[in-house]
Amino acid sequence: MVSLDQNLYIFSLGRVPELSFMELKGLMSEGDQMIGYEDGFYALSLSKPLSNPQGILNILGGTIKISKVLSELRFPVNTLTETACAVITHRILEKFASSSSKIVYGISVHNLHAKSENILKNSLKNIKKFLTENGRSSRFVNKDFQNVHNVIVVQEKMIDKGLEASIIKIGEKIYITETVAIQDFESYEHRDFNRPARNMDSGMLPPKTAQIMINLSGINKFDSSLQNKSPVIYDPFCGNGTILCEALLMGAEVVGSDKAEKAIKDTQININWLSKEYELQEPKSYIFAKDINDLKASDLPDKIDAIIGESYLGPRLLRKPTLEEIAKISAELETLYVATLKKLAELKIKCPIILALAAFRDKFSYRYIESIPEKALEFGFTIAPLSPKKRSSLIYDRPDQFVAREIFCFQLK
Ligand SMILES: C[S@@+](CC[C@H](N)C(=O)[O-])C[C@H]1O[C@@H](n2cnc3c(N)ncnc32)[C@H](O)[C@@H]1O
Repeated sequence: MVSLDQNLYIFSLGRVPELSFMELKGLMSEGDQMIGYEDGFYALSLSKPLSNPQGILNILGGTIKISKVLSELRFPVNTLTETACAVITHRILEKFASSSSKIVYGISVHNLHAKSENILKNSLKNIKKFLTENGRSSRFVNKDFQNVHNVIVVQEKMIDKGLEASIIKIGEKIYITETVAIQDFESYEHRDFNRPARNMDSGMLPPKTAQIMINLSGINKFDSSLQNKSPVIYDPFCGNGTILCEALLMGAEVVGSDKAEKAIKDTQININWLSKEYELQEPKSYIFAKDINDLKASDLPDKIDAIIGESYLGPRLLRKPTLEEIAKISAELETLYVATLKKLAELKIKCPIILALAAFRDKFSYRYIESIPEKALEFGFTIAPLSPKKRSSLIYDRPDQFVAREIFCFQLK
């Protein structure tokens, strides 16, 4: 066993790990360190312990679970099951020392492949045996000897009232962890599907993706809360207000514009709904109708900390577009996207600009609006390398859609 870093956490990433990874990077400050990655699991050493892991997870659209490392071992470990049982039992006894009720626990094993099932089964049974012998009644939730489903962690209230432990291999290390936060999937669904104003034609960003885009700007940090800073976030294509709503929940002040009057009404309706549902204390929002081409500095507040927006992605496509159709839509979108970059350069706002633009799925790759990076550089922007690829962008894609979102992070020099 090696000495333990007290602030070591494992982040289980969501469906698009590249985006989730960059989102976490956006929250890191000096002193926070990436330790390792394997198959959807990131080990992160933070400069301070997370005082409210669930609070952080609630704003991280790309992470499903946060676990705190209880013990760190060097792979391979000959006596892994015995060591894991000792560490987990020790933590169970510590956590439930002052309670006499039945102990509910579960164990999951990740990245150990063929060996997983035996480790899982033996650990669950050995811990139960030990607890029984020591006069503690207990129940493990994964009776099928499969990893614990996240829904079960929520239903059984395992973070507060039980314990979910995991054994996770990441590179040359094996971590034994305790789950400290789990994605509030019901709340995301509520915000996505129950908001009163919805417009399928103009497209709606899922709240999780909106959070990822906000976090790519770097305004949220692991070691500080937004509440004390009240940054101002501006979305020039606010649509139904998804980005603005997520920014308000994070504690930001929001400014939104859109060329469509209906979008302005819808955004206002959704913000009012959200403010009531989530009991926001004096949410500050300013929404106005404006075509990006007509935007002036005087329309905006003096201070803007980040511009986050999903531009128009073209008409709603109900079948796969032909190459000719893609070329036609791309030409129209290119005019808007280039005009947007030009306008934002003219306004001289020196903050991170996170923009989602259209890209078209093409078998194994994407057809991009090619000229965007070149134009951005021409107008004086730098492009943050969200990916090691030449375009520096990241793709957010859904299998049921023909148009993907290409996400860029620009900033004026
Ligand atoms: C994809 S939607 C944004 C959806 C939004 N992210 C949401 O989740 O609700 C794009 C929006 O851009 C707006 N738009 C299109 N062209 C515009 C322009 N030239 N200036 C300002 N807004 C524009 C459309 O009216 C539309 O509401």
